[in-house]
Amino acid sequence: MKQQEQAAGEVLVAGSPAMRRLLETLDKVASSDAVVRICGESGTGKGYIARHLHQRSARAAGPFVEIACANLPENLFESELFGYEKGSHTDASETRRGRLEEAAGGTVLFDGLGELAPTQQAKLLRLLQERCFERLGGHESIPLNARVLVTSAEDLEQAVEQGRFRRDLFYRLDVVRLEVPPLRERADDIDRLATVFLRHYRKLYGKPMKVFTADARGLLRRHRWPGNVRELRNVVEHAVLTSEGREVDAPDLRLGRPPAIPQLLEDGARQGMSLAEVEAAYIRRVLLETRGNYTRAARVLGISRKTLLQKRRRYGIPD
Ligand SMILES: Nc1ncnc2c1ncn2[C@@H]1O[C@H](COP(=O)(O)OP(=O)(O)OP(=O)(O)O)[C@@H](O)[C@H]1O
Ligand SMILES: [Mg+2]
Repeated sequence: MKQQEQAAGEVLVAGSPAMRRLLETLDKVASSDAVVRICGESGTGKGYIARHLHQRSARAAGPFVEIACANLPENLFESELFGYEKGSHTDASETRRGRLEEAAGGTVLFDGLGELAPTQQAKLLRLLQERCFERLGGHESIPLNARVLVTSAEDLEQAVEQGRFRRDLFYRLDVVRLEVPPLRERADDIDRLATVFLRHYRKLYGKPMKVFTADARGLLRRHRWPGNVRELRNVVEHAVLTSEGREVDAPDLRLGRPPAIPQLLEDGARQGMSLAEVEAAYIRRVLLETRGNYTRAARVLGISRKTLLQKRRRYGIPD
């Protein structure tokens, strides 16, 4: 999956004014070693831009190491990042280098920064302040020899205000900010991106040459793209697989399905839906929007993750 994501990403589509501005800033900061924070809605291409920045940097010949913050269990954080010495804990039958050592000479990307637990935030802050670290159970101080990039889909300023993210860490990371605009503000890129993905999936699945009909292109341009570039990519992949013949037409695109929220309330009122039914429908809608990320969905809904899971069970919403 990840590999496929990268393979289609060989062409950086950035023809819209918003993306051209972004690339201008990117070029200015690429060669320095400054920390760059890449923010933007989910699926806008933050990871993609981060890799591009690495390739344009003085460290391009070095490794690019990505650390997915959301998937790091609290107890694995240190051994994963810093590595460990033989015998430092029961499973440590030999010395292992951590991801930071692997990134030496290159770039390290902390992806999904907003998901870091408070103890992890403290350790990251220390790392950035001291620019060196030790393996677990080790005494040797190893310099951090990697450019640091971070991405976050959530509003970190707000997370700081709400006390969920350390202010001192935020300032360390907020040196250069690149904002990747949502796809709906990059109308000029939609057509080109769709064509790039169409070619990629046609080849991948061994399908004949295909083109979009004018109707299909119109629909792509009008859609709001809550899931941004990733949604567009999935929609095109689906269309390549299911459309017959040499054209991809509007109905092949499977778009416009999840009801907009005002529409949901309108229909609900007309059909005499109960409050619980509306709540269940709204939760489903938000889970769709956050692609099943409970932490993010809970934040949008303004309830705890635990309450969200309880409601999900009560309403029988599948995960
Ligand atoms: N400008 C672009 N040109 C070509 N492909 C792109 C572009 N931007 C994004 N993509 C593709 O869109 C998909 C989503 O991009 P990416 O994973 O970088 O998004 P993201 O913002 O990191 O998402 P998330 O917040 O979920 O981590 C990837 O398959 C990527 O290759
Ligand atoms: Mg990403």
